[in-house]
Amino acid sequence: MGHPASSSVAAIYSLFILSAIPHCIAYELKANWTALLRVTASQELGQKIPDTLFGIFFEEINHAGAGGLWAELVSNRGFEAGGPNTPSNIDPWSIIGNESFISVSTDRTSCFERNKVALRMEVLCDSKGSIVCPQNGVGIYNPGYWGMNIEQGKIYKVILHVRSSESVTISVSLTSSDGLQKLASTNRLAAASDVSNWTKMEFLLQSEGTNSNSRLQLTTNKKGVIWFDQVSVMPLETYKGHGFRKELASMLEELKPRYMRFPGGCFVEGEWLRNAFRWRATIGSWEERPGHFGDVWMYWTDDGLGYFEFLQLAEDLGAFPIWVINNGISHNDEVDTTVISPFVQEILDGIEFARGSPDSTWGSARAAMGHPEPFQLNYVAIGNEDCGKKFYQGNYLKFYYAIKAAYPDINIISNCDGSSRQLDHPADLYDFHVYTSASNLFSMNTQFDHTSRTGPNVNKDSFVDNPFMMQFQVFVSEYAVTGSDAGTGSLLAALAEAGFLIGLERNSDVVQMASYAPLFVNANDRCWNPDAIVFNSWQQYGTPSYWVQHFFKESSGATLHPTTIQANASNSLVASAITWQSSVDNSDYLKIKFVNFGTDIMNGKVPNQNFFVQIVNFGNDIVNLKISVAGLQNAVNSVGSTMTVLTSSNLKDENSFEEPNKVVPIRTSLPNAGTQMDVVISPYSVTSFDLSLAQEEYRSAI
Ligand code: AHR
Repeated sequence: MGHPASSSVAAIYSLFILSAIPHCIAYELKANWTALLRVTASQELGQKIPDTLFGIFFEEINHAGAGGLWAELVSNRGFEAGGPNTPSNIDPWSIIGNESFISVSTDRTSCFERNKVALRMEVLCDSKGSIVCPQNGVGIYNPGYWGMNIEQGKIYKVILHVRSSESVTISVSLTSSDGLQKLASTNRLAAASDVSNWTKMEFLLQSEGTNSNSRLQLTTNKKGVIWFDQVSVMPLETYKGHGFRKELASMLEELKPRYMRFPGGCFVEGEWLRNAFRWRATIGSWEERPGHFGDVWMYWTDDGLGYFEFLQLAEDLGAFPIWVINNGISHNDEVDTTVISPFVQEILDGIEFARGSPDSTWGSARAAMGHPEPFQLNYVAIGNEDCGKKFYQGNYLKFYYAIKAAYPDINIISNCDGSSRQLDHPADLYDFHVYTSASNLFSMNTQFDHTSRTGPNVNKDSFVDNPFMMQFQVFVSEYAVTGSDAGTGSLLAALAEAGFLIGLERNSDVVQMASYAPLFVNANDRCWNPDAIVFNSWQQYGTPSYWVQHFFKESSGATLHPTTIQANASNSLVASAITWQSSVDNSDYLKIKFVNFGTDIMNGKVPNQNFFVQIVNFGNDIVNLKISVAGLQNAVNSVGSTMTVLTSSNLKDENSFEEPNKVVPIRTSLPNAGTQMDVVISPYSVTSFDLSLAQEEYRSAI
């Protein structure tokens, strides 16, 4: 049972907000800005937007993956969260029963070579005799990640590994957090001979009830010693059957991302190299993945969501994978360039894992995981935010030349910002990250207007012989409004981001890719605010920043058309226009986006009260807009044309589990759709006019 926020965008668009009517009346009364937006929609002046322009950036932060997108319900499934030595950390596992009935410890007796820690459970009570077990038995439980969401009628796949020198009787149950409500249960009996060696038990449980704060219990009434290891509970139904939580993955799919950058961010670097993400430790059977402690965001991951799963997710979303690699640099330690070659080899092996033939060493490991076809890995980012580090440039070049020699078609992304100074090393793209206030980010809609279009933005003398030298493209791989303007995801932040994205769209001859960051936050572990998608064990909603991205999901691969705005408050207004073809019905659309950021905000005054109530003060920001489209080859159908608006009554408005749809795009029909339109633009809004174009061509008289 997902939250209604997970329902399709279409459903949200179909909402009609009747309360909009009085607002419109207020606009009519108070509007005092006028603007003219000219769109030149001729094919000749159109410019193709890169197919890859808008994508997503997934980082293992905020429990985005472990306890989030990865549907595994058991946390610390191998009892390894304290590392490979014993005593290890079994948290969040706990004991059912007191010390007179049961004692647990960890030892290194597991059958899994890369995962030696197992849980030893000694049961001191019995069904009869001197110490009789409590009626419901004793044992251990795992509450998952702040409660497991168990839903009535749904089926869960349970796997556990067990060993004992005596026969065992284990009750495996999914229960409420106090253990009193049993949602699903089974008893597993095994003779001593069956469990004297490690034995895998695997079965399905169907739930008879719903509880979003459930736990897994392993209990018994029988005296003896049982070892447990690698315990898993997964819903049978996952996104495309590949283990991703359905509602969350669907929210990604609805963004139509063209690429997916992963797995971080700082997560890639680690505070210390020993805690960085290393792809080899995250592939193969899940039981043999050691897991690791992400010491930047400070939590353990079992690495069920590993390198293979990231590649699979990108493929499932129809997105190119962009692998961010660690080039021997963490936040606190670095590998000297003279000894970097094992790191380079590790990455070459990783690329072979993704792209190699099933006969190759690492390609065969991928094939063994069920994907004989290569993944389409064409982009590798060398490091994350490491440009200024001592060994970055030296290490970068080692990686760059080794990867280009083996895979000349792979696009390589440098951490060094080529927009602020000339790059002195070869690259295909350079990373650009920005986290700032709303007015700053909005103003940055012109950031790339003056980037050189005429040649490489590079100091040519520094590598004249470089065969790969080219005009660098910009990869805005992380952007967001942060701080007090953003809170945990405000309309204000989203408006500024919309303005910034329009600027990127208009400069998409030099900006090849852009993604918001971070993507996900589990509300129980907010390491970073704000984020695009907020969830807990059973609910999810998009922040306004998530919804803004919906305005751009048709842009990649579309045709950009020139626009100009004439207005008396033009520095707070930005617009763009694209034509695109729907892959659903092959219909063509002209999409005109318009952001009204408001003059008050640009002047440093952020209205913090309901601005419809404060309309006398803030009403200046209503815009009477005339849209004039010239050069269109097709007639405009008013039927099928729509207008979509993202706004709210307060700039600081946010969505929440209680009000997931407070700030979402509202789509209405556009009966006056045409090449000449007079429209009223709400203050502090993003508006999209989607004009349905007739199939037959006609030359506009305009
Ligand atoms: O997106 C959150 C963090 O911000 C990323 O990990 C890092 O790259 C940036 O500093």
